[in-house]
Amino acid sequence: MHARAVAASTTALLGTAALLFPVSPARAAGGSPLVIAHRGASAYAPENTLAAVDRAAGLGIRWVENDVQRTRDGELVVLHDDNLRRTTDVEEVYPDRAPWKVKDFTAAEIARLDAGSWFAPAYAGARVPTLEQFVNRVEHHHQKLLLEIKNPELYPGIERQTLKVLGNEGWLDRSHLAGRLIVQSFSADSVRTVHELKPAVKTGFLGTPPVADLPVYAGFADQINPSYGSLSAAYTSSVQAFTGPHGRPLEVLTWTVDDAATAQRVAGYGVDGIITNKPDVVREAVGG
Ligand code: G3P
Ligand code: CA
Repeated sequence: MHARAVAASTTALLGTAALLFPVSPARAAGGSPLVIAHRGASAYAPENTLAAVDRAAGLGIRWVENDVQRTRDGELVVLHDDNLRRTTDVEEVYPDRAPWKVKDFTAAEIARLDAGSWFAPAYAGARVPTLEQFVNRVEHHHQKLLLEIKNPELYPGIERQTLKVLGNEGWLDRSHLAGRLIVQSFSADSVRTVHELKPAVKTGFLGTPPVADLPVYAGFADQINPSYGSLSAAYTSSVQAFTGPHGRPLEVLTWTVDDAATAQRVAGYGVDGIITNKPDVVREAVGG
């Protein structure tokens, strides 16, 4: 079946629930790609901290990406690795707790850690934020959030819990759903679960699935988000030829692009957005 026909029937099956809150396209037709600050403006401030959100805001960047995981006592926190070693002082504070997995520490234990000194002395005392703290800081700056559910296989039920926190913090109302929130994951099962739990949420799959598989992805993901090294103009346009669960063309956000030449190349492919540690550099390069 043709891609659009497959996706159209999927949309029809979803019914009105998904269509009550139509999602906006990532960018206006003919416009520059969106620029998304990866883990915040993480070239300039410690990744996934409130300082990195602030830095993105200071640069005038509207979209921020993050990574969500869960503590031993069930708190959602924002951190990329499945362990605390690289981005905190956990080895000093808890020397006997190897391998220092996020899931083995309570929220209170993690809150004690310094998540800034590893990056630069000026950021000493930065903390690993909870998801609640993170979305509230993004909201404070009137920014938008590309939320990644990281390692969902380690955290059963994290999709429902993430949606609960987002709802509690006001991120599932009409305006956020329409254009201020995307939930993505490398796990297709996790993305599908988010879509099934809350069809109005815009979703993205991280990866480069074969074009032949895209009709399936178009049933539950609004975006296909590949690494830039795996991307081509042909793949980008193949993805965008499909219609996603909200009745719009599938979008492509690519990562992690930190130099002007690569940014201009992928912009030439027609991507909808570029995820970058250096959002100022990419914005300058693509005219966003
Ligand atoms: O948002 C895309 C990118 O964050 C995926 O890779 O490993 O940086 O989470 P990673
Ligand atoms: Ca990420």
